[in-house]
Amino acid sequence: MSDQEQLVNEIKRLKQEREAIILSHVYQRPEVQDIADFVGDSLELSRRAATTDARVIVFCGVHFMAESAFILSPDKTVLLPDVNAGCPMADMVDAVALERKKMTMPEAVVVCYVNTSAEVKALCDIACTSANAVKVVNSLPADTPILFVPDKNLGNYVAKQSGRTNITVWEGYCNTHQRLTKEDVLAAREKHPRALVLVHPECRPEVVELADVVASTTGMLRYAEASDGKEFIVCTEQGILHQFHKRCPGKSFYLASEKLVCPNMKKTTLEKVHRALLTMTPQITVPEQVRQAALKTLDRMLAIQ
Ligand code: 13P
Ligand code: SF4
Repeated sequence: MSDQEQLVNEIKRLKQEREAIILSHVYQRPEVQDIADFVGDSLELSRRAATTDARVIVFCGVHFMAESAFILSPDKTVLLPDVNAGCPMADMVDAVALERKKMTMPEAVVVCYVNTSAEVKALCDIACTSANAVKVVNSLPADTPILFVPDKNLGNYVAKQSGRTNITVWEGYCNTHQRLTKEDVLAAREKHPRALVLVHPECRPEVVELADVVASTTGMLRYAEASDGKEFIVCTEQGILHQFHKRCPGKSFYLASEKLVCPNMKKTTLEKVHRALLTMTPQITVPEQVRQAALKTLDRMLAIQ
């Protein structure tokens, strides 16, 4: 038996012993995705975290995701195998700056991308993910001014899709998706002229414009599974290729650029998952007052089907 097989077996044994569930985002390393009980996008992972009856949640993702899991399931132990796996976009808005901005827009409804800290969520009215952002905004009264934090690309995409002109977007962005340029996509299209272009809304607007389909990670997977198309250019983080290959055998997927790697998503390794289960650390918690306020923001999102 290889070292990796031994490690996987040990993780499975500990998982049972701890009554744990392993949740993984689709941007994780392939071997991490493969030991997970569930692999999904941010919205699906939040829903799983809210409904699981496991005692322990091992979150293979980034810090704000583990925080959301704890906010939704405070009676569970939530483990983040690498405590330094953060999200640079989430760090682009903090509670102090948001409070200040809110004072200049007292009538605005504040919509936050789930890629935010618990403190920021606590100051917002409703959360969204890339899978439901348009639906969330459309659920708000048409004449209400909206402050959308922190992703300017997702915010501008939602404004366009919803036809709303009263959305103010924060100046944040995802470093990984922002690296992808229009020229990268045009070059990929020239190389693979028959391929359909799948774009995540965290990408720059000029990249989004080149898309055949704009979708969250799960949206892209579902589209590729159902499509008659055989070739796809993928404009999101490379970890998703593992799921494309598993779910769509016989179809070809080309990453639009080798730059599409999120270093934080790659911090989680099998060794760290093993250590987390063995030592029951690092645990992610949120102070109760902040949790209660952030929970309202997440619950309003989860109520939208
Ligand atoms: P989704 O899987 O919800 O599309 O999230 C993208 C992302 O960047 C998560 O950090
Ligand atoms: Fe954050 Fe972007 Fe990495 Fe997602 S891919 S965790 S948004 S930096």
